Amino acid sequence: MKNNDNFFLRNTWYYALPSNQIKPGMMISRIFLGEPVLLIRDRDGKVSAMTDICPHRGVPLSCGRFDGQEVECCYHGWRFNSGGGCSAIPSLVEGQEMDLSRFDVQSYTIREAQGNIWIYMADADNPQPALDMDIPVIPGFDERSLRGATSTPQFVKVVKFPCFVDHAVVGLMDPAHSPYVHRAWWWRNEQLHEEVKQFDASPYGFTMRRHRLPANGGRLYWLIGGGVPETEISFRLPGVRIEETTIGNNRVVNLTAVTPISETETEVTFLLYWTLPWVGFFKPLIHLLAGSFIDQDRTVVEKQQIGLKYNPVLRLIKDSDIQAQWYYQLKREYARSVAEGREFLNPVKGQILRWRG
Ligand code: FES
Ligand SMILES: [Fe+2]
Repeated sequence: MKNNDNFFLRNTWYYALPSNQIKPGMMISRIFLGEPVLLIRDRDGKVSAMTDICPHRGVPLSCGRFDGQEVECCYHGWRFNSGGGCSAIPSLVEGQEMDLSRFDVQSYTIREAQGNIWIYMADADNPQPALDMDIPVIPGFDERSLRGATSTPQFVKVVKFPCFVDHAVVGLMDPAHSPYVHRAWWWRNEQLHEEVKQFDASPYGFTMRRHRLPANGGRLYWLIGGGVPETEISFRLPGVRIEETTIGNNRVVNLTAVTPISETETEVTFLLYWTLPWVGFFKPLIHLLAGSFIDQDRTVVEKQQIGLKYNPVLRLIKDSDIQAQWYYQLKREYARSVAEGREFLNPVKGQILRWRG
C-alpha cells in the first residue's frame, strides 16, 4: 500500500462542529477538505453554510458582518442570504438591473442533531449528490427515546492530528496499539491477551458485535458498577466510530468523528453521551482521562509523520489490520459507487477476527 493514492471521500457527511460553539447571530470560518466554509446560525437558530470567499474580489466573507440574517462582505458590501444567494450589490444605481443570482456563492447542506452539526461535502463534478446516506445517529439519545438522557454530548474534545485523514481513521480502528500507546492503570494492564471478536457488515461500515468487557479491560466501566459492562463498536464512512457500552440499564456512548481539514491536518472530535446522571460529578476526571487518551493517539501519529515523509510501502497484516483494510475497501467502493451512479455494495464479509492486543 503506497500512501500516494490519498483522496478525500466526497458526497458524504462530515462532522463540522459541536452545536454549542455557534450561537444565533454568529458566524464561524472553517476549512473542510481543503475548502473554506463559512458557517452561520441565523436568529431563528438555523445553521447554514456557504463558501467563505466573496465572488467579487475573493475576500473571505467571514471578514465581513453577519446581522443574524445576511452576510455582508467587508470590501464593497455585497450581501448574501443564508442559502448563499446574492441579495444586494450596493454600488449599483437606478437602472443598472442585474441578475444577482449570477453572483451566488456555493452553499452546503447542513444537518444538526444530538448537539452536533454535520456538513455534506458534495463532489464538484457531481452536482446531483446521492443524499441517501444520512448523518450518524447515536442510539438511545435521539430526541424520541431520551428517557432522562440528554440529547447533547456531556463531553466534547476536539483534537487536531497532523496527518492525512486515513491515518487518523486507521489509528482509531487499530486494535493492537492499546498496550503500547495507551498504557494506563485505569484502563487496562500491560499484558497482551488474545482477543476473539465477531464482526458483521453494517451500513457503510462494520460492527464489532456486542460482547462483555473483560474485567481486565475498561476498568473504568467496572468502577461504575451496576452490572456487567457490554460493548458494541461500529464504524462507518467517512470516519465515524460509535462505541456503545451498557452497564445494566445505563449506557455510555462515545462518538468519534474524523474530518479532514487539509492533506496534512485532520480534526478528531471525541464526544461522550451518558445516561448516568451522577457521572457528571466525575466530569473533571473524565476530561483528564479521555483527554490524555486522545493525546496519546495524536502523539503517535505525529511520530508516524516522520517516517511517512519518505513514502514507505506500508504492510497490513491479518487479523489485527483487517479493519484498516476494510476501511480502504469501503472508501474505494463508496467513491466508485458514486462515480458510477450505482448502489453501494458493502465489501465487508462478517467474520471472526483474532489478535493479541
Ligand atoms: S470583494 Fe466582496 S464585495 Fe467586493
Ligand atoms: Fe488509540
